[in-house]
Amino acid sequence: MEIKRSIDRKGSGDPILTAVDVRKAFGGLVAVNDVTFEIRRGEILGLIGPNGAGKTTMFDLLAGSVVPSGGTILLDGAVISGEPAHKRIARGLGRTFQIPRPLANLSLIENVKLAAQGQAGEHLLANFTMPWRVAAEERAAEEKALELLDLVRLSRLADAPARVLSGGQRKLLELARVLMADPKVILLDEPAAGVNASLLEVIIDRIREINGRGVTFLLIEHNVDMVTRLCSRVLVMASGRLLCEGAPNEVVRDPRVIEAYLGGAVDA
Ligand SMILES: Nc1ncnc2c1ncn2[C@@H]1O[C@H](COP(=O)(O)OP(=O)(O)O)[C@@H](O)[C@H]1O
Ligand SMILES: [Mg+2]
Repeated sequence: MEIKRSIDRKGSGDPILTAVDVRKAFGGLVAVNDVTFEIRRGEILGLIGPNGAGKTTMFDLLAGSVVPSGGTILLDGAVISGEPAHKRIARGLGRTFQIPRPLANLSLIENVKLAAQGQAGEHLLANFTMPWRVAAEERAAEEKALELLDLVRLSRLADAPARVLSGGQRKLLELARVLMADPKVILLDEPAAGVNASLLEVIIDRIREINGRGVTFLLIEHNVDMVTRLCSRVLVMASGRLLCEGAPNEVVRDPRVIEAYLGGAVDA
C-alpha cells in the first residue's frame, strides 16, 4: 500500500527514498525494529537519537552494506532492498561513514577518483580495445575530482596523501568522494563529529549548496544546532524504533525524546 503510494506520486516533495517495516536483528538484539519513513525529494531530513538507537544500522540497511531481516526499501519507486551496495550507488544513493577511512597513502585526488562510477577503464579489456576512451575518461575523472575537492575547500591538498588530513578535513574528503558518483540522495553519518567550529561552518555551507543543486540528504547528527539550521523535519529513533518526527525545535522539547536521551547513553 505504502509502496504503491510512493510510486504514484512524482514531483517536488514526493518520496525519493522510502523504508517500509525495515528490520534488522543481530542475534537476539533488534537494532532496527520495523521502521517506516520516507525522505522527500529535495529535503534535508534529520535523524537523531541516543547512541545505540539504530541510526547507523538504518543507514547500513538503506545503503545495502547490511542484509535486512525484513521490510522493503524503495529508491524512486524501485525496490532496492535486495540489491548489493554497488548497485544502489549506481542508482544514485550515496553514503558517508561515521568514521571515514580514506586510503591513507593515496593522494586526496586518487581517493576521490576511486569513487567514480562505471568507467571504461574499470573493464580490463577496454584498456586494449578502446584505449582512447579510457584516457578521455581518466582526464574527465581527474577534472571532476579536482572540482569536487575545490567545492569542499581541499583542492590545495589535492596531491597530498590522505593521512595528513585532520578529522574534520576527512569528513570533507568523504563528501567529495560521495559526490563523485553523482548521487541524488546522500546519507550523512555524523558529519560534524570531531570537527572544529570553523570547519563545521564549511561543512554546513557545503551541504546547503549541494542541496541547492537538487541533492536530497538524510543527516544523522548529534549537533542540535546543525540539525536545526539544516533540517525542517527530523526523525527520532530510540531502541531501534521510530519514536516521533517533527520540526527540530519541537522534537527536542518532546518529553518522549528527552526521556529517551536521559535513559540512553548520552554523548552530546
Ligand atoms: N554488526 C553488529 N553486530 C551486532 N550488534 C550490532 C552491530 N551493529 C550494531 N549493533 C548494535 O545495534 C544497536 C544499534 O547500533 P547503531 O546502529 O550503531 O546505533 P547508533 O548509530 O544509533 O548509535 C547497538 O546496540 C549496537 O551495539
Ligand atoms: Mg551511529
